[in-house]
Amino acid sequence: MMNHLHKTIWHKSIDQDNIVCLSLDVPDSKANIITSEVIEALSTELDIVASSSPRGVIICSAKENGFIAGADIKTFAQQHSIDDTFSAIKQVHEVFNRLESLACPTVAIIHGFCLGGGMELALACRYRLADDDPSTRVGLPEVKLGIHPGYGGSVRLIEQIGVIPAMTLMLSGQILSAKAAQKMAVVDQSVPHRYLQKTARELILQQPPKQQASRFQRLLSLKVVRPIVAAVLRKKTADKVKEKHYPSPFALINLWHHQPKDRHDFLTTEALSVAKLIQTDTAQNLVRLFFLQERLKSFAKQSEFHAQSIHVIGAGIMGGDIAAWCALRGLRVTLQDQSAERIAPAIDRAHNLFKRQLKTTHAVRSAMDRLSPDVSGMGISKADVVIEAIFENLDAKQNLLKQIEPQLQTHTILATNTSSISLESLASCLQQAQRLVGLHFFNPVAKMQLIEIVSSDETDQNYAMQAATFARQIGRLPLPVKSAPGFLVNRILMPYLLEAVSMVAENIAIDTIDRVATDFGMPMGPIELADAVGLDICLSVATMLAPELGLEIPTKLESLVAEGCLGRKSGQGFYLYKEGKKQAAHTLVHIGIDRKLIEQRLMLRLINECVCCLSEGIVDDADLIDAGMVFGTGFAPFKGGPMSYLNQQGVQAIIKQLEQLSSSIDSRFTPKTGWEDLL
Ligand code: NAI
Repeated sequence: MMNHLHKTIWHKSIDQDNIVCLSLDVPDSKANIITSEVIEALSTELDIVASSSPRGVIICSAKENGFIAGADIKTFAQQHSIDDTFSAIKQVHEVFNRLESLACPTVAIIHGFCLGGGMELALACRYRLADDDPSTRVGLPEVKLGIHPGYGGSVRLIEQIGVIPAMTLMLSGQILSAKAAQKMAVVDQSVPHRYLQKTARELILQQPPKQQASRFQRLLSLKVVRPIVAAVLRKKTADKVKEKHYPSPFALINLWHHQPKDRHDFLTTEALSVAKLIQTDTAQNLVRLFFLQERLKSFAKQSEFHAQSIHVIGAGIMGGDIAAWCALRGLRVTLQDQSAERIAPAIDRAHNLFKRQLKTTHAVRSAMDRLSPDVSGMGISKADVVIEAIFENLDAKQNLLKQIEPQLQTHTILATNTSSISLESLASCLQQAQRLVGLHFFNPVAKMQLIEIVSSDETDQNYAMQAATFARQIGRLPLPVKSAPGFLVNRILMPYLLEAVSMVAENIAIDTIDRVATDFGMPMGPIELADAVGLDICLSVATMLAPELGLEIPTKLESLVAEGCLGRKSGQGFYLYKEGKKQAAHTLVHIGIDRKLIEQRLMLRLINECVCCLSEGIVDDADLIDAGMVFGTGFAPFKGGPMSYLNQQGVQAIIKQLEQLSSSIDSRFTPKTGWEDLL
């Protein structure tokens, strides 16, 4: 902070037409973020501008990576009281209001990131101009941090593009490309980089009318119509999230619905609403997760590795989808299996993925060109990364790894996607056991953000770091974990899933169990999740983990698998499926069912395993357990992850509950090793 006092934050130039250009360059920071120093310095510049009557003002960024990435979330989230936050926000309002009411035209030139507070600064300018490069990303993603725009952005965006499009953007936190932003009138124009300055000057000299919402959109904001629009918005939002879990989108709708007549008061209520939201557990947890996500990304920064081509062996569910995802992300991929017929379905799935994700037929064709079937394994010797994803069978995997090893280049990462076989046993067949790394993807590959980077004691950490960098290259979050049964995520998930199955065997309705979990905040109930993963896979992973983790496998799971009820993929598991869609469960309604007890049983089994993983050093600290469970399974993000939930509940209280369940239900609830370290 001290440094900022001595370094220039806004670089000013004035051209021959008396147009002032203020270029933001936050010192000692890769990206521009809005700090209190940035605001103070802008305030000073605006004073000078106001007294010098220039023809116009251009606001831009001197950073290569973008305009402004957002507000300084860390400081923001650390404010101790609603009053402190409110007055900090009001200072920003005061400066943005002055920028907005300058007598001369103002233009924000946007390239790269223009998010959150950065977008709100741009909205306070009369015009916005975006670089049409694909790297331009424009949006107000505050809801993802449990708040909503607070620097006047919600008021100004609604005024400029209308309530429906503005709410659609703000309630989802969607990020737009330059073209999409222009289409929605979030920016006035998007032009190639070389024309930005010229176009900005033209806007200042010609002064076209300021962007304004259409007449129809303005009608929707009339006081008499607002209750109806607000009700529709609330209903649509409630279909996606629960207000008690995620209050901020609802607060944004309320803010607009009950807006004071006076615009200045409207802006003040916006500031107050955000000041209150930032203090909620949801916002504090989401902000913490944001930084945990940055921490996972930082694991990728320890090596310069950059893969051009990869080779995947095993074109099944996982291998096929891993190959497709890597080709989508621009890598050249060879995909091997025992025959061309076994590869064909994976290529079809890849084609569907490309069609869904890529906009032009040319892009789809290029992605298809990058993905080649390779039955004979020609790609092995050329690849920078080789990923083994064949059946979960030790002998088969060892035979394959032995064949691969002599063909690899020295720098090539040799990885396995095994979900339950230890790296030590797999690597024992290799000449150089130190080069095997686990790259444990989650199913479905195109959706799940996390990849566990598994190391054994033997693994060369250079390869592990390169594997983390590779995970980032394909847009995933790497989590370094120690090789141990189930690694981190599956190991923690398994007791939770098995507890749910035990409850089914006790005749508790499946939809009740699932509902308790989703009410807690899980994205899907455990029974539906087991069906989605495949009951055969659950059974085989559970069987593999049972001896080490002391798991008892419910006979219900074994009998369903024996009957061929494998879950969604076979049309029947615990639920029935028609064309892949879950049918309502026809179960008897239980009267007097203890929902709290169901929640306790599920969560306590899961947390007990988390604590044990921590004491065994599967990951380095409790924060990484939370990161793994949130990004790998979708564990209630607003609760901050299981360890954060444990801390909120209190260690002593949870131990007591475990002991009670251990005596009233079964010894599987006995506190495992590790709790003593938390006391
Ligand atoms: P899968 O049974 O769908 O596919 C395996 C494929 O490997 C088959 O197409 C088979 O023909 C091929 N294969 C077997 N031996 C081969 C050989 N010697 N050479 C070339 N191809 C060979 O299996 P899935 O589900 O894709 O699993 C693959 C690996 O990924 C396993 O280690 C599994 O534990 C792991 N995994 C599975 C997850 C899942 O949800 N299914 C999640 C994460 C990891």
